[in-house]
Amino acid sequence: MYYPDEIVEEVRSKNDIVDVVGRYVKLQKKGGSHFGLCPFHNEKSPSFSVSSSKQMYYCFGCGAGGNVFTFVMNYENYSFQEAIQMLAERAGVELPKIEYSEEAKKKESLRNLLLEVNKEAAKYFYYQLRAPQGAKGLEYFKERKLSDETMKNFGLGYSNVTSDDLVKYLKSKGYDDSIIIESGLATHDEKYGFHDKFWNRVMFPIQDVNHRVIGFGGRVMGDAKPKYLNSPETKIFDKSRNLYGLNFARSSRREYIILCEGYMDVIAMHQAGFNCAVASLGTAFTTGQANLLHRYAKEVILAYDSDGAGTNAALRAIKILKEVGLTGKVLNLKPYKDPDEFIKNLGTEAFEERIKNAENSFFFELRIMSEKYNLDDPESKTSFHREIAKKLCEFTEDVERDNYIEAVASKYSIGYENLRKLVLKIAAQSGNVEPAYRPKSTATKKNNSVDNALKPQRMFLTWLIEEPYLYPKIKKYVTVEDFTEEIYQKVAKMVFDGLEEAKLNPAAIISQFSDEEDQRKVAEIFNTKVGDLEGLQEKEKAFHDILYALKKSSYDYFSSKLGSDVTALNQVIQGKKALEEINKIHISMEET
Ligand code: CTP
Ligand code: MN
Repeated sequence: MYYPDEIVEEVRSKNDIVDVVGRYVKLQKKGGSHFGLCPFHNEKSPSFSVSSSKQMYYCFGCGAGGNVFTFVMNYENYSFQEAIQMLAERAGVELPKIEYSEEAKKKESLRNLLLEVNKEAAKYFYYQLRAPQGAKGLEYFKERKLSDETMKNFGLGYSNVTSDDLVKYLKSKGYDDSIIIESGLATHDEKYGFHDKFWNRVMFPIQDVNHRVIGFGGRVMGDAKPKYLNSPETKIFDKSRNLYGLNFARSSRREYIILCEGYMDVIAMHQAGFNCAVASLGTAFTTGQANLLHRYAKEVILAYDSDGAGTNAALRAIKILKEVGLTGKVLNLKPYKDPDEFIKNLGTEAFEERIKNAENSFFFELRIMSEKYNLDDPESKTSFHREIAKKLCEFTEDVERDNYIEAVASKYSIGYENLRKLVLKIAAQSGNVEPAYRPKSTATKKNNSVDNALKPQRMFLTWLIEEPYLYPKIKKYVTVEDFTEEIYQKVAKMVFDGLEEAKLNPAAIISQFSDEEDQRKVAEIFNTKVGDLEGLQEKEKAFHDILYALKKSSYDYFSSKLGSDVTALNQVIQGKKALEEINKIHISMEET
């Protein structure tokens, strides 16, 4: 982290989290917290909470959580530097000029240079398209029914037939050979010298989410091969972590994002008003891209080509979407090949209609599967039903699985009870139902025995930050060493220190962790409530139980390390004493 802690804290404290989150998510006050639909996973009833007193958010559904920085970083896909700059500006805090290390400076300046070179190239191609030598390109785009406005929005351009004029242009702007080569816009060989990568093609600049040009796709204007050339991966162009069109789609604020295969498809859809369309960059859809999408949408509608290759690509994309916890639907484009052709032939309204009728991705998978079977033949049909049952085992949540069993049974005219039994049988044979996918933030499936030990530790810390007056009453019973994971120990130490000095600040504690996953864990530690408790007695008992469970988890932890760890014995002996003592005490919850 480059900024001093005090500045980070000043920026954080001047940006009320309820205000900031409230600009993106509709929040409703409920009890001491505000609730809304979680922007990080798909849900129908609100489990996303924002606490004004803790200055933190936490989703009880997917486990996303953190402070105002974490939120902005996740929602806007910003780096910490970008988040703090945005929030500082919002609150009118002036940030000090930061001193980068030599190495960081070099890296940063290389990235900036590459961005500049790409921007210059984009300007050059853009100008070429509108110059006399670009007439061919302009005509090509016109033929493909692109309006001037669309061409302008997407910064479309043209690389002319001269094969080294871009290099010359970039050199005239003062960029040296090595940076031009590193940008991937040109190559060099002994015999022929410098060569532009793109020539005689219409050009599609590829922008990151912040509208910065990071690479290009170039298309031939006829049937020559290869149809497209793309910039190679560079320090600023990571094909697996960017999506064409996302710079516009991210602010479309539709409930879904349309994912398609081609640059032209994206452009055609945007031109028709579907500004939530994106495409991968000449490679297959990746998990990195799915994670990126997860920040902007709850649902992804696949508009892949309707041919066999498109169908297979869609099946693979569905798997990847599931892995990160996104729901997918599939658009039927038939009888046309892709969204571009569809819209050109049937128009906007028909496309909108197809979106409304997009097929649930599970049914899509079943339908594709069914094509391999002859459903008139009982043998083949039975095999198909077995495959269906196997697939249904992918749902680990009983309610969801049962809903799907019901829907599938009715769709394929299978007896509901029969299908249900078949699913259970197959689940039993294969050991269990398969682990379900979970949103990224909770992707590391919790090991239950470990989590059972950690839960009282979280409950205890949550309780303490919510009712700090309890601290003096219990501090002699609990130490930092009672917490059994490193991050829990760190957090406990900061909480105890804060309470000692009467300046406990949970949201500031989150800022101490730079890793996003750690920030999420800290938010979880501060948001583990016991549930509804009635009356003082019940509350006192619950708190006492948690304290006991916390000490017990520590005792068990060190007991298990006896023999391998010399300090463990001491911890165990003391732990036993502490447990006996806690058994006897009464902690009053009356505020004194
Ligand atoms: N693609 C590529 N290289 C190729 C062919 C395709 O990188 N030789 C990528 C491009 O990103 C392209 C996408 O795959 O946009 C889809 O390919 P295709 O359907 O062939 O192209 P469209 O974008 O649909 O273009 P058009 O409508 O002009 O045929
Ligand atoms: Mn296509």
